[in-house]
Amino acid sequence: MLFTPFKMRGVVAPNRAVVSPMVQYRATGGMVNDYHMVHLGKFALGKFGIVFTENCAIEPRGRVTEGDLGLWDDSQIESHKRLTRFLKQEGSLAATQITHSGRKGSTPRSFDKPGELGPKEAGWQRWQVVGPSELAAGEGYTTPKQLGADEIEGLVKKFGEAARRADAAGYDVIEIHGAHGYLLAQFLSPISNTRNDQYGGDRAGRMRFPLAAAKAVRTSWPEHKPMFIRVSAVDGAGGWDVEDTIAYARELKAIGIDVVDTSSGGLTGLSTALPVKRSLGFQVPFAAAVKRGAEIPTMTVGLILDGPQAEAILQAGDADLIAIGRQALYDPFWALHAAQELGCDSDFDMWTPEYGWWLEKRKNNLPK
Ligand SMILES: Cc1cc2nc3c(=O)[nH]c(=O)nc-3n(C[C@H](O)[C@H](O)[C@H](O)COP(=O)(O)O)c2cc1C
Repeated sequence: MLFTPFKMRGVVAPNRAVVSPMVQYRATGGMVNDYHMVHLGKFALGKFGIVFTENCAIEPRGRVTEGDLGLWDDSQIESHKRLTRFLKQEGSLAATQITHSGRKGSTPRSFDKPGELGPKEAGWQRWQVVGPSELAAGEGYTTPKQLGADEIEGLVKKFGEAARRADAAGYDVIEIHGAHGYLLAQFLSPISNTRNDQYGGDRAGRMRFPLAAAKAVRTSWPEHKPMFIRVSAVDGAGGWDVEDTIAYARELKAIGIDVVDTSSGGLTGLSTALPVKRSLGFQVPFAAAVKRGAEIPTMTVGLILDGPQAEAILQAGDADLIAIGRQALYDPFWALHAAQELGCDSDFDMWTPEYGWWLEKRKNNLPK
C-alpha cells in the first residue's frame, strides 16, 4: 500500500510516503533560498510522494525564529515558486505548512544553548509574542500579550492570505499547523486559553478561532487542491484529549479538510518534549482513533523507521499517509529504500534514471 497512489480531490500523490515539516532556521526574510532547495530537493530525488516545507509563518510575529520561512508577503512567492517547480519536476507533490507560533515564538533555535548563539543568530530580532491569554508556555518563554477579538479576526484573514500565496507559489497541498502548542493549539486547550469571550470558555468557544482559520484557508485555497491540518491529539498537559480531537476533526471535515495529520503534545515547554511515552510508531493510535472516530483520512508521524513498519500501519487501516521526519534526515532516499525492502522496486525503476540505470547495472557486479 505504501507505493500505491493516494487521490485527494483533484490531486494524486504517487505514493503514501511523506516528508514531515521540519524547520531549519536558514531563511532570511522568510524566503526560500539555495539551502532549502538542496535540503528539500533531495527528498524529491528520493521519491517521497509528498514533500512538505517547514512551517511558514502567516505574519512575522508568527515565526519561531527570524530564520523561519514565511508566506506573509507577496514578495515571498517567487522564491517558493522555484522550490515547487523542482519538487514537481521530480514527481513529488509540493506541500507547505502555514503557522502562527503565538506564545511559542521569538525563541532561540531548538539546539541553541543560552549564550552560545552564533553572531548572526545572536543579532536576530526578538518580538512581543501573542496568545489567547497572558500565560507563558513555560520556563524560558516570555509572557504573551492577549489577542483582542479584532486581532483574532485579522489573523483569520492572514491565514487565508497565506493560503492564496501558497497557491500562487504552486504548492499542491497546504497544511495548517494546529499542533505542538503553537497559536491554534493554544486556543484549543483550557490550560493556555482562559478567556471568557467568544474565543474561550467551553470547547466550542475554544475551537472558534482554529475553525475560522481553517474555513478561511479552505475558501482561499482552490477547490481541487487538498488541505491538511496538523493536530496534537492530546496537548500533553491534561487539557485536551483524544475525544476533543475527534469532535474537532468532525467539524474540520465539515469545513472541507481532507486529512488530519495527527501528532501530539507541545503545549507547555519544548515542542520536542512530549510527555507521551516514545516508542516506535508511538502516535499511530491517535491517527487510528481520529480516522475511525471522525471518519476522515489521517496521516501519522513519529518514529516510523522503515518500509515494513509503514506498510503494517497502512495495512491495519490505522492511517492513510505516513510522514517521516528524522528518519528522512538520516536517509533522504528513505522512500526508495523502503520500496526495495518491500520488494516493490527490485530493478531501481522508481529511481531517477540518471541513478537507477547505473544502480541496476551495478547489481550484477556486487558480490553474491
Ligand atoms: C528538525 C525538525 C524540525 C521540525 N519542524 C517542524 C515543523 O516545522 N512543523 C511541524 O509540524 N513539526 C515539526 N517537527 C516535527 C516533525 O514534523 C515530526 O512530527 C517529528 O519529528 C516526529 O516524527 P519523526 O519521529 O519521524 O521525526 C520538526 C522535527 C524536527 C526533527
